[in-house]
Amino acid sequence: MVKQSAHILSPDEKGLSQAAAYLRAGQCVAFPTETVYGLGADARDGQAVARIYETKARPSFNPLIVHVHDVQAAKHFVHWNDTADCLARAFWPGALSLVLPLSDDQGLSELVTAGLDTVALRVPAHPVAQQLLDVFGGPVAAPSANPSGRISPTSASHVIDGLGDRIAGVVDGGTCSVGVESTIVQIGTPPRLLRPGGIASEDIEKILGEPLADLEAGKIAAPGQIASHYAPKAALRLNVQTADRGEIHLGFGQIEGDLTLSQSGNLVEAAANLFGHLHQLDKTGRPIAVAPIPTTGLGHAINDRLNRAAAPRSGMPRRS
Ligand code: TXA
Ligand code: MG
Repeated sequence: MVKQSAHILSPDEKGLSQAAAYLRAGQCVAFPTETVYGLGADARDGQAVARIYETKARPSFNPLIVHVHDVQAAKHFVHWNDTADCLARAFWPGALSLVLPLSDDQGLSELVTAGLDTVALRVPAHPVAQQLLDVFGGPVAAPSANPSGRISPTSASHVIDGLGDRIAGVVDGGTCSVGVESTIVQIGTPPRLLRPGGIASEDIEKILGEPLADLEAGKIAAPGQIASHYAPKAALRLNVQTADRGEIHLGFGQIEGDLTLSQSGNLVEAAANLFGHLHQLDKTGRPIAVAPIPTTGLGHAINDRLNRAAAPRSGMPRRS
């Protein structure tokens, strides 16, 4: 028998206000969308977002999709344009996520975007998702509500089977009608298909009146892992107890740096601070030395990100 601590919440006023209360308290709540069940957290709260990765035991920080109630809410977070408007009119609410450049001071956690300067947004059509976003009144980051590497859940009982002992609650909204994740399109010239999904790319092309650009073969599976991922400009040295002269030090736990990911050695706090601290240190223009981070729990994803940032970047354009 699966150990279960998650509350199964009914999709009514009482259940939804409890779900919203969990979100406000920085906890993770699973909820139905028409594609798959999402594992939701307040997209503005770095520690809550870090708990998504911890809960799913994700070995890396892929950027997450941010769910909003309507187009108006979406516009607050990004630089909106005519192409986005055209696709939103045709397919929102629905199984389409749009990747757009972040607006200034939008308040999203840097962990949601994995430090990128773009964000994926979606207005889900499922009435329970719509109601939850309305009651909560803010943006909800949500990957599929399954442990990393397992299949995506399309019912509340799938969620309980996979994560029942690790989340505060799941809102039971029945079976998902679409059953596969949303299609992801990066808005650009031309718009690019990042992940095939619930809405056929042919239908999107019909609305756009032009073909979507593809990712090169082999890259579709994990768009979050590819070149556009944030890497600091500075050289990075890992597992450093004491920084050399000229280096700037990112600390953890006992090892206090110029900035410290978590003084108490808390990996959730460290994950929430990771991208923000790297950005800040990178601005100094000095090489960055990073204290050792344990390879347990969220430490896997933190070390994965740091290893990528420290790896030689020949042939990869550096971000400015
Ligand atoms: O149907 C869905 O989309 C489900 C439900 C819960 O809404 N959500 C979902 O989320 O599949 P997630 O977080 O597992 O999918 C995120 C995908 C990843 O492949 C990630 O790489 C890509 O979206 N992504 C997110 N932000 C991106 C960005 N700024 N640039 C490129 N890719 C991005
Ligand atoms: Mg998934």
